[in-house]
Amino acid sequence: MIIEFFGKFHPLLVHLPIGFFLLAFVLKIYSFWRQKDVIDAILPLILGLSILASVFSSVTGYLLSQSGEYDLEMVNDHQWTAIGFTIILCLFYFLRNYQKVNLLFWIGLSVLLMVVGHLGGSLTHGEGFLNLTKAVEKNQIVDVQNAKVYEDLVRPIFEEKCYACHSSKKQKGKLRLDSQIAIEMGGKNKNLIIPHEVEKSLLSQRLFLKDSDEEHMPPKGKPQLTNEELKIINWWIKEGASFDKKVSEIPQSAEIKTTLLRFQKGSEIVKSAQNIPEKEVEKALEEKIEILKNAGILALPVAANSNYLLINMRGISPQEKEIEAMKSLKKQIIWFNAANVKNTKSWSEVLKDLTEISILHLNKTEFSDEEMKNLQGLANLQTLNLSNTQVTEKGLESLKDHKKLQKVFLYKSKTDFSKLDFNQFPNIKIDTGGYKVPTFEMDTVEVKAM
Ligand code: HEC
Repeated sequence: MIIEFFGKFHPLLVHLPIGFFLLAFVLKIYSFWRQKDVIDAILPLILGLSILASVFSSVTGYLLSQSGEYDLEMVNDHQWTAIGFTIILCLFYFLRNYQKVNLLFWIGLSVLLMVVGHLGGSLTHGEGFLNLTKAVEKNQIVDVQNAKVYEDLVRPIFEEKCYACHSSKKQKGKLRLDSQIAIEMGGKNKNLIIPHEVEKSLLSQRLFLKDSDEEHMPPKGKPQLTNEELKIINWWIKEGASFDKKVSEIPQSAEIKTTLLRFQKGSEIVKSAQNIPEKEVEKALEEKIEILKNAGILALPVAANSNYLLINMRGISPQEKEIEAMKSLKKQIIWFNAANVKNTKSWSEVLKDLTEISILHLNKTEFSDEEMKNLQGLANLQTLNLSNTQVTEKGLESLKDHKKLQKVFLYKSKTDFSKLDFNQFPNIKIDTGGYKVPTFEMDTVEVKAM
């Protein structure tokens, strides 16, 4: 108890030796120009204070490391460089009048101090805290039903939102969440996860507390779990907290099925979920979906218990075989994402057949006015993304008769907005993107029927 108490002062105390040492260094440099005598007289005092503070820091640091909240391996490097610094600083204190070694010591000690500080910082802020470019890659799951529930869904959530305080680096509450064994062991309390019993599992309890509650996890001010992440963790515990099962092997409510889709690569299209047709459609032929899957193209239900499909080409140009497969799925396909797909001419005609499409992404393709004619018959189209294409105002005329069309994205297309006759498009919202359009003040121009 008393040990923990003194250990807590370490993060505060460590700034003192750094401050004193840097002050001494600055004064030393200053003394080359002025006040040499005064500074030479007080320098031993300041260096002495730095030594004293270093010793106190080391002692409290040692006590803190005994609290069991830190990775001892990482503590080791920090601890020994810090002790090294203290010893060399003492040595320097006695040798400081030998002009020859002076500069070397000053610079060497400054570098060492930076290393100590960085290693210490890594302990409190997590490894690589200076590495600003590190970003967690998300949504790399191609087919969520085939993913492992713990490894691919739950663990990445822990890694992103909990590891900073509950892993090899730190064990707040004596808890680690970075391995199956650690999770099964739990922390201070042993009821971390009780399979099938969400309410009795401490982990869920902590996550579902009000944000303002002291015990809420992650603590206030830290990145919080999204609603979807919370649902996944709850579902995982409720269905037995398996560490090796695939998603498809675990019972799923309709709601969870939809939530799961959000963890899948290309899920942006799912987020714009709207207007799934009310009329029923028969189930798609599994073998046709299989053909697309084998080519790396995603074909998935748009929602749980729905036979309607979304296609995400994932930038892959379809060959004859895949084009035929898509044609035979024409009744089911309602969302189509062809962003980034090359060789536009070779596949764009397939769109003529896919008359049920309501959301269509053609951004970053070579789509031009010529290919726009393929969209003439798509009477169900509601959202169309033509950003970064070759389409001009002429090509847009193909959309004139689309009664349901609500939104067209034209950012970085070749459309000249000054020539575009907005009266042609009653009820369409045309999104011109982030730059200014000469004749209109707003970025988004809404055109109402007369
Ligand atoms: C910024 C640091 C930090 C982050 C991030 C963090 N925690 Fe904690 N956690 C703590 C601290 C400190 C304690 C100990 C104090 C307490 O029990 O509230 C703790 C305790 C816990 C406990 C109680 C352990 C026990 O047995 O008493 C659980 C469960 C927990 N955390 C879960 C999580 C989960 C799950 C996440 C990620 C979603 C998370 N924590 C993220 C700091 C953090």
